[in-house]
Amino acid sequence: MKDRKENGVYYTPQVLAEYLANPLITANTRTILDPSYGEGSLLLAAERIFKKKNNSSEIQLFGCDTKPVNGLLKHLPEANLKETDFFTYQPEILFQTILMNPPYVRYQTQNIEKIKKYRNAISEFSILNNKADLWAYFLLKASLHLEKDGNIGAILPWAFLQADYSVPLRKWIVENFHEIKAVALSNKYFDKADERVVVIWLKGYGKKNESIKIAASKSLESEITFSDLPMDNWVSDRVFYSDANSIDHILSRYKNEFGYMNFINYADVKIGVVTGAVDYFIMPKQKAKETGFSADQLVPILTNPDEFSQYLSNGEKNLLFLISIKEEDYAKHIDYIQRGIEHQYHLRSHSLRRKPWYSIQTGKTPDAFFHYRVSKTPYMVLNCWNTQSTNSIHRIYFKDLSEVEKKWIFVSFLSRPSQLSLEAKSKTYGRGILKIEPKTLKDALVIKRSDPCINSVYKKVTQLLSSGQKVKAVDIASEFINKELGIPYDLKILTEETLSTLQNLRLQQGK
Ligand SMILES: C[S@@+](CC[C@H](N)C(=O)[O-])C[C@H]1O[C@@H](n2cnc3c(N)ncnc32)[C@H](O)[C@@H]1O
Repeated sequence: MKDRKENGVYYTPQVLAEYLANPLITANTRTILDPSYGEGSLLLAAERIFKKKNNSSEIQLFGCDTKPVNGLLKHLPEANLKETDFFTYQPEILFQTILMNPPYVRYQTQNIEKIKKYRNAISEFSILNNKADLWAYFLLKASLHLEKDGNIGAILPWAFLQADYSVPLRKWIVENFHEIKAVALSNKYFDKADERVVVIWLKGYGKKNESIKIAASKSLESEITFSDLPMDNWVSDRVFYSDANSIDHILSRYKNEFGYMNFINYADVKIGVVTGAVDYFIMPKQKAKETGFSADQLVPILTNPDEFSQYLSNGEKNLLFLISIKEEDYAKHIDYIQRGIEHQYHLRSHSLRRKPWYSIQTGKTPDAFFHYRVSKTPYMVLNCWNTQSTNSIHRIYFKDLSEVEKKWIFVSFLSRPSQLSLEAKSKTYGRGILKIEPKTLKDALVIKRSDPCINSVYKKVTQLLSSGQKVKAVDIASEFINKELGIPYDLKILTEETLSTLQNLRLQQGK
């Protein structure tokens, strides 16, 4: 455990090692160094790939580590593996390729005396401030062991893209490498380490930079699309953040560049039915029948957003029913009405506004429903069963949309831009709960299209929501919309980060 913290001892799993090594191994590869090779996973991955690609084993592998775990590299010449501190390592040759997953050791845990000594010995370290993590020193020193035109593949923490101390390092990289490529992974790849990693490939040491490409992905399994990153973004404080990173700016980009529109363009929002005496007017079907009501007097009604997920899978089954008594049925239900009067329900303010007080006018059947109060992931549910809702759920009336268009809106509500528009503009109250007023919902951003490719995503997302898997539903909906709309990497990440920051702040309020 101590070794992990002080020496950053985490060995790279095979899939990640191969992913890192693969783009750098060609028929011309001759020498590879891992400056902190541990068990040798990166060197072994390189060897495997080289053999596969060239049907030959003529590759020279070199390693250095203060505490190597020998055993897997016994076939290599002993002289190629040095059990020593990389900062004092002085090989006789320069290497064509360096693969590394260097130790991540925070400045607070570093050996200050040693760092001072390294700083005195290696002038390049002067670009790093005293908050730099040990991996940053590793990356700089590794570059000094490269042949001209050589390449580095490294697994680094997200701090590489986001920490202040990384800015001068990124500047240095852009001045020294022809091509830069990076992918930020959000899944955890290291057992017992929470660190999220970035895989970077730096090609063409000593040549003017011509390309910076970046991508973000949950995992290596999904398809990864790289985008060009402008130089000024690469050398900014946080690679993901452009200078105009206010929420309004993000949202207006979705509107102006990608066709998101305010929901009000496609629908009207009304609060749900107000009864004034829920327990009196709303009841299970069986009880309503026993009380003498017939099927045509019962309106299925959603009373609580917790019912959403099961409404999606079971429809009106298990729903409660609203009693709708017409004035002409007074005599038939006189006992029931009298009971209401005994409880003084007829004097409640909402009852006083109705004529007669026991006859609730539900108004038109809504086309869909939406959360009013919710702690995470508000969403819309389409009304397929002539259902109504109480005022704890909003009612939605579409303006002439096709079924496919409604599905687009349903899915787009789960996409992060839409979630961000709701999160940013809603009120929060009690225990960090989001309170989405009709005005906020009308202003929320959605996408309406008529491409039937939405059908399968709609189905998938509905299934996820009906089994309570909201987070997954947001992932799938966002991935789909991002791809369909061609949302660029920087905007996608900015949206993700901004949304999760806002959510975390709100949820913390609730604690
Ligand atoms: C994150 S592990 C990675 C090991 C291997 N590269 C891999 O990918 O599986 C980091 C390694 O750095 C080694 N290490 C820590 N400080 C070092 C130093 N100053 N010089 C050389 N190796 C060091 C540790 O012993 C450990 O094996």
